[in-house]
Amino acid sequence: MLHPVVLSGGSGTRLWPLSRQNQPKQFLALMGDRSLFQETVLRAAALPEAAAPVTVCSDEHRFMVGEQLQTVGVASGGILLEPAPRSTAPAIALAAFHALTGDADATLLVLPADHLIADEAAFRSAVGAARRLAADGWLVAFGITPDYPETGYGYIRSGEPLGADGFRIARFVEKPDLATAERYLAEGGYAWNSGMFLFRADAYLAELGRHAPAMREAAERAYRNARRDLDFTRIDAEAFAASPSDSIDYAVMEKTDRAAVVPVSCGWSDIGSWSSLWSVAERDASGNRSEGDVIAVDTRDSLIRASDGRLIATLGVEELVIVDTADATLVARKERVQDVKKVVDLLKNAG
Ligand code: GDD
Ligand code: MG
Repeated sequence: MLHPVVLSGGSGTRLWPLSRQNQPKQFLALMGDRSLFQETVLRAAALPEAAAPVTVCSDEHRFMVGEQLQTVGVASGGILLEPAPRSTAPAIALAAFHALTGDADATLLVLPADHLIADEAAFRSAVGAARRLAADGWLVAFGITPDYPETGYGYIRSGEPLGADGFRIARFVEKPDLATAERYLAEGGYAWNSGMFLFRADAYLAELGRHAPAMREAAERAYRNARRDLDFTRIDAEAFAASPSDSIDYAVMEKTDRAAVVPVSCGWSDIGSWSSLWSVAERDASGNRSEGDVIAVDTRDSLIRASDGRLIATLGVEELVIVDTADATLVARKERVQDVKKVVDLLKNAG
């Protein structure tokens, strides 16, 4: 059976000041009424022959996750609570042990909680192709056609075809530097890693055991010693703390020779920063995206978000991001918003 696993442990610091430690971006209604987390669980629940989605998140977000699932009426396949973040490879291992307890044939569909997918039919058909490959033991990544040399993504070079469904991965390079990313784009034949994966739970654990045995061992012990509490599974803190912290991309996908890629064109976007939100949002004729009480005169290509009870007026500016909240306001050039995390780091060090 297919078990969707929603990874919801990130903090989304680049969407400060809207996203905060207690309110990370995946739980915010950034576009429309539903949060990215809610969109993700709805998308997962709509897949054919899928079990209820499993969420892996931080202990401090348990009530938000429970409430957000309930609001959209999606049944939960369990909420695994991490006492401290250890990045995605151990989080997925916990979900694998969880799914295997009731289903020895469990296949996981790993979904980051903070992505947008515009074309669900294309996504569903890619999931179908990936399931066929996973049945043969492949660890499948979903590949997106790259359109600029993004250094925040993984790059996948396709190898030999695996029937009509996908390709063997010849090379997986997580977050290359700019010169390398530019070279990959010029060379062609590379896809971005979407961050979504599909594999049999036992195949993932086998590869994790091969390439990061300490992580597999720690995750297994942490899951076995977990405490159940209604829908929550409280992962054992001491055992989990012993796990190295690493992402699936570095710990498994770069190393395994069982990796395959299914290309997908599904209107995918990763809402990683204010500029990526601006680029996927609907904009007015001047290229502005505004929310709340905003007056924009002679203003172009900007994202402006007013908070309740305060008007923002702009005049003669362009390419800005202005985000106001009750206790903090961000004003930044749009091309610099990747560096918002520097602001957050300064705040952390000050606090
Ligand atoms: N439960 C849990 N615990 N979830 C986590 C943790 C953790 O410790 N760390 C991250 N996550 C979640 C995030 O909330 C997000 O939904 C997902 O896992 C991916 O983590 P990111 O931190 O957003 O990864 P990334 O964007 O830097 O890189 C990944 O995604 C790119 C595409 O968006 C990689 O897979 C890249 O290769 C890929 O290109
Ligand atoms: Mg991300």
